[in-house]
Amino acid sequence: MQGILQGDRVLITGSSRGIGRAIALAMARAGAQVAIHYHRAAEAAELVAREIRELDRECIVVQGNLEDADQRARMIEAVSQQWGTIDVLVANAAATAFKPVTELRPYHLHRTYTVVVESLVDLVQRLLPLMTQGRHGRIITISSQGSHYALPRYASIGAGKAAMEAMTRYLAAELGPLGITCNAISPGVINTDSVRYYAAERYESFLSRIAEATPLGRLVQPDDIAAAVIMLASPYARMITGQVIQVDGGISLKTPGFEGV
Ligand SMILES: NC(=O)c1ccc[n+]([C@@H]2O[C@H](COP(=O)([O-])OP(=O)(O)OC[C@H]3O[C@@H](n4cnc5c(N)ncnc54)[C@H](OP(=O)(O)O)[C@@H]3O)[C@@H](O)[C@H]2O)c1
Repeated sequence: MQGILQGDRVLITGSSRGIGRAIALAMARAGAQVAIHYHRAAEAAELVAREIRELDRECIVVQGNLEDADQRARMIEAVSQQWGTIDVLVANAAATAFKPVTELRPYHLHRTYTVVVESLVDLVQRLLPLMTQGRHGRIITISSQGSHYALPRYASIGAGKAAMEAMTRYLAAELGPLGITCNAISPGVINTDSVRYYAAERYESFLSRIAEATPLGRLVQPDDIAAAVIMLASPYARMITGQVIQVDGGISLKTPGFEGV
C-alpha cells in the first residue's frame, strides 16, 4: 500500500505507543504526513517522529491530555498553525479503569467517557474547518469488542466504546454531505501495554488462549489494525461509511461452550 496516502495529512491520537504507533508508522510508509499525539510519553513520541522523518515524511508532534478541553484546543491549534488542513483523524487514544461495575466510581466513568466520547466530538468539531479545506475527509475511530460483549472488568471502557461506535454512525450520517466518511475498527486482543496491564499476572496464558481460539490461528498484530486504517483512509473506501469493522482474526464469530460438541 506504499504511496496510497501520498500527501495526506493525518492526526492519530495516542500514537506514542501500541496500536497508535503502528498506525502512524504504516500511514507514513503509505505516503502520509503524520501528526503524532501523546499525553505523557514524550520520549516515545519523539522516537516515532524520528522514524517517520527517516522515511522522508513530514511529522509534527502534539501533546495533550484528552481529558482537558483547553489542552485539546491547544493541540488542534498547533496542527492548524503548522498545517492549516487535515485529511484524516484516527481517534485511537483511550484511558480507563479495569474494574467490575460494582467497583466503578463516578470519576472512573468520567475519565473514560471524556477521553473516548467527549474528546472525539470535540476534536471533530475543532478539525472540521481544517478537514473541509483538505483533499478529502476521513474519521476512523478505534473501538473494541467490549462494546458488544461483556468482558471481565471491562464495563467502563466497553460502554464507552459502544457510545463511540454510535457516535461514529451519527458522524457518518451528519458529515456525509461534506464528503467525510466515518468508520470504526474493532480490534481483537493485541499485545500492547494496556493488555499487559489488563491481564496482569495471567497475561501470557491469556494471550495464548486468545491465539488458540482465533480462527485465523494467531493474535492480531498492531500492523493488522494499521492495514485496515489505511484501507479506510484510502480512496478504495470512498463509499464506506458508518461501519464497525472487526479486525479480530474471526474470534468474535465463536460462542464459547461449543468446543468438542
Ligand atoms: N490492545 C488491545 O488488545 C486492544 C483491543 C481492542 C481495542 N483497543 C483500543 O486500541 C486503542 C489503543 O490501545 P493500545 O493497546 O495501543 O493502548 P496503549 O498502548 O495503552 O496506548 C494508549 C495511548 O493512548 C494515550 N493516552 C492515554 N490516556 C490519554 C489521555 N488522557 N489523553 C491523551 N492520550 C492518552 C497514550 O499516550 P501516552 O503514551 O503519552 O501515555 C498512548 O499513546 C485504544 O482505543 C484501545 O481501547 C486495544
